[in-house]
Amino acid sequence: MTQGENAPASRVLLKDVRPYGEGEPVDLLVADGRIAEIGAGPDVEVDEVVHGEGAVLLPGFVDLHTHLREPGREDAETVESGAVAAALGGYTAVFAMANTDPVADNAVVVEHVWRRGRELGLVDVHPVGAVTVGLRGTQLAELGTMARSAARVRVFSDDGHCVDDPLVMRRALEYTSAFGGVVAQHAEDPRLTVRAQAHEGANAARLGLTGWPAPAEESIVARDCMLAAHTAGALHVCHASSSGTADFLRWWKAGDHAGTVSAEVTPHHLLLTDELLAGYDPVHKVNPPLRTDDDVHALRGALAEGTLDCVATDHAPHAEQDKDCEWSAARPGMLGLQTALGVVLRTMVEPGLLDWRGLARVMSERPARIAGLTDQGRPVAEGEPANLVLVDDEHRWTVRAAELASIATNTPYEGMELPGRVRATLSHGRLTVRDGVVAREGAGH
Ligand code: DOR
Repeated sequence: MTQGENAPASRVLLKDVRPYGEGEPVDLLVADGRIAEIGAGPDVEVDEVVHGEGAVLLPGFVDLHTHLREPGREDAETVESGAVAAALGGYTAVFAMANTDPVADNAVVVEHVWRRGRELGLVDVHPVGAVTVGLRGTQLAELGTMARSAARVRVFSDDGHCVDDPLVMRRALEYTSAFGGVVAQHAEDPRLTVRAQAHEGANAARLGLTGWPAPAEESIVARDCMLAAHTAGALHVCHASSSGTADFLRWWKAGDHAGTVSAEVTPHHLLLTDELLAGYDPVHKVNPPLRTDDDVHALRGALAEGTLDCVATDHAPHAEQDKDCEWSAARPGMLGLQTALGVVLRTMVEPGLLDWRGLARVMSERPARIAGLTDQGRPVAEGEPANLVLVDDEHRWTVRAAELASIATNTPYEGMELPGRVRATLSHGRLTVRDGVVAREGAGH
């Protein structure tokens, strides 16, 4: 049963919308959770009309990498506040990372997160299961039990920590391949990043910060590709951050290897560099760290050509006391759900690296396929599930942390003007965002 299935069915007419930003505006009728008709006449009977005024209609975004902080750190984010932020950001499915407290390494925790998402009915919340017990990297968690639970977990990750023991990683790839699971690796050799605070390079040296060298990521990515091939498992590389990772993945994907390898890049690694660290503002502290201009351009190119499959936010809310402190004590991570679209438009679409179809590919279709979702990331076409986002492409807005839906405020984009506004989001045929405001009535069941 999919989320929101028991909620009242509604008929919504999206007037004057442009699927994939192409052609003349059309009317699109949504009924019973699906796209019923494209080019529907003006006199169909509906419950709601959304005036698109030529806005761009895309499949709803899918985020493979979201930290919702529930259970344990509800002072930073809850499933509810994160789901609102996701809907406002144009997302119709998010994958909630396992580094909660307690850790999502068992059926009880993943079912709690999953149920909370269903109750809210704003976005499909898919819990990610931990690979190892307590994220400690030594003993495999109850992967099969989580997969068989009501949450039907398919993506497993110790994100925040690397599964650095190659034997544990091998076993995780073997085990999850038996039921079509994916291991999402936070690639960071911990021996190379002891006390690391910033990308290892000239800026870190100047600022007196211990370096996080790119090979700490690249060596784990290379090792894990080989393990994925050896086990015929499915590896997903979290937050690729260096040009070396992009180069390796390009070379690897050009070869004829068993197994499956996919990779994500975050919006912040597509836009921001370690030059921002000069002010020592911990809002710029993130793991993996912001790197150089060359890395940013390599990542953009790799995303455009498909070497990197998708964009994932790594939305990482942190409470004020964990961010508003000295650099070395601050937690790494930044908000991302409500700014991802704007950053991807600015870094990929405005420079001509991706068109709207390309944006749909990297923010919706590829992530949905990587996670094995069948009702997300589908084409905007008659008969398809109505998980959709309507983007006002002419609108520009200024990021204000206080106006974002997250409980935490750690956005690195404060005061920045970004293109593109989410005018409406539809989850399983129901409006979750209307006129840029979250629509709660009718949500949940
Ligand atoms: O910056 C990060 N924050 N990177 C991670 O891998 C974990 C995340 C978090 O949980 O805050």
